[in-house]
Amino acid sequence: MITGSLSSPSVSGFSPLPHFNRPTYLMCPPEWYDVDYVINPWMAGNLHRPSRDTAFMQWKGLYQELRRIADVRLLHAREGSPDMVFVAHAALVQHGLAAVSSFAHPQRQTEEQPLRQWLQEAGFLLWETPRETSFEGEGDALFDANGGHLWAAHGVRTCQISHRHVADAWHVPVISLHLVDPRFYHLDLCFAPLSGGYLMYFPGAFDAASLDKIKAAYAADKRIVVSELEATQFGCNVINVGRNILMGTVGTDLAERLRGRGFEVTELQLGEFERGGGSAKSLALRLSDMGVTHGVSAGEPAV
Ligand code: ARG
Repeated sequence: MITGSLSSPSVSGFSPLPHFNRPTYLMCPPEWYDVDYVINPWMAGNLHRPSRDTAFMQWKGLYQELRRIADVRLLHAREGSPDMVFVAHAALVQHGLAAVSSFAHPQRQTEEQPLRQWLQEAGFLLWETPRETSFEGEGDALFDANGGHLWAAHGVRTCQISHRHVADAWHVPVISLHLVDPRFYHLDLCFAPLSGGYLMYFPGAFDAASLDKIKAAYAADKRIVVSELEATQFGCNVINVGRNILMGTVGTDLAERLRGRGFEVTELQLGEFERGGGSAKSLALRLSDMGVTHGVSAGEPAV
């Protein structure tokens, strides 16, 4: 169901959909960030361990780096929603239409309304997802670099039934992937479509049928395989804008391997957020269109 100011094209007072001249993201400061409960394996053992001061410093480091390569809008944090900083999971946006998440856990459902309101005020159309078939935004649904089709995961948070419903918002084909390792409870922890037609992924997070689908879509020389060690250091949870990649610090040569493919990689300290189960990618929601270059090279990175 679509709601918003443009629920029907015949509505008078037609207001244009948001238009972006540059890649644009939404971030939410970690004002109330903490590990207050355990809804993923990374949070266990980290209850109330994040330092808010350090988290703020780390978040600001990412914010400043992202502002170098994109526009960044801000969403006000709400007390009582400690995971709201992971704003990428609250929606999936493309062409001015936002599929708003129905979080699997009640602890995160409080994040839905503030984002819905922000998106509506910013002029986005809303595509509502039913509560009974949970859907966790960019956590579990990612467009390929051209925006031509959607990869969507199920198995932990997002229900498979929601995949078709969400893809129908844009009339795009959807490829469903099954996640089998609870440490990689979201697709954005083990799968990252990158510009230049590359895919970075951790094969151990998927069942055999999903691996076949991935191999059918990406030629071997376009697949950047991440090791288990790298995946557990959130190596796949990256923000990619054109040839730029922003990521947490992974203690291997992963950044070098990406540079070898022509990417400009910035590694950041994001350890306080990793205690909560997420890294760079989860901290920013894409608002502008995937597949539009905005003058930034989204094609083959220069090698
Ligand atoms: N505590 C949040 C949750 O469990 C963390 C989200 C980070 N997730 C991610 N896919 N990177 O929902």
